[in-house]
Amino acid sequence: MRSNSPANIAIICGSRREPSRVRALMEYVGEVLENKNIEYEVIDLKDIELPVFRTKNQNEWNDLTKEIVKKYLDADIYFIGSPVYFLGISGALKNLIDHTPWQEFQEKKRVAGIVMSGRNRQHNLVIDTQLRPVFVYLGVEVANKSVFAIEPDFGGDGFDLESEEVKSRIEEMVQETISLWERMIKNDK
Ligand SMILES: Cc1cc2nc3c(=O)[nH]c(=O)nc-3n(C[C@H](O)[C@H](O)[C@H](O)COP(=O)(O)O)c2cc1C
Repeated sequence: MRSNSPANIAIICGSRREPSRVRALMEYVGEVLENKNIEYEVIDLKDIELPVFRTKNQNEWNDLTKEIVKKYLDADIYFIGSPVYFLGISGALKNLIDHTPWQEFQEKKRVAGIVMSGRNRQHNLVIDTQLRPVFVYLGVEVANKSVFAIEPDFGGDGFDLESEEVKSRIEEMVQETISLWERMIKNDK
């Protein structure tokens, strides 16, 4: 996992807005990894015009879809971020997930940590009713510790992560996800 480790890590930002609170959260996930000298890739759906899912036949996908799905499949460890939009995950993230070639996906072990942001705490169960079950269904081990940040956790113009509590929750979630991966690899030996 350190720079000489074979684990591929992907940080997925499921918000297409700019500025975005979820992006600020995922940037902090990146900072935490960098402090541990761990390399990662970013899949920021803001920068990717992924067509809306139409077919499982990969021969019909355009080059961009093939490239992004490959990057997504290459990862062993995911840090997945999404805003709550109308009691669900973002359409952009759902669209990426819809492209999962699930038989191929289940060929290797993976772990994930989840980060979401909503207006207030009222809808924090979207993590445990939507995002976690999808990845568990796909055979991914998801860290118990997840992060839900609300609008008052951000300062500046409302998009700078200021809450020390959320930052420390992110640090704990990142550590738990990595430990989960390390245990999984050790048990395989
Ligand atoms: C279209 C839309 C729908 C939203 N729906 C909800 C919702 O159902 N529940 C909630 O708690 N917050 C809701 N919000 C607030 C966002 O989840 C919140 O502002 C979040 O921090 C936005 O993240 P972003 O800046 O990365 O897009 C909604 C915001 C938008 C733009």
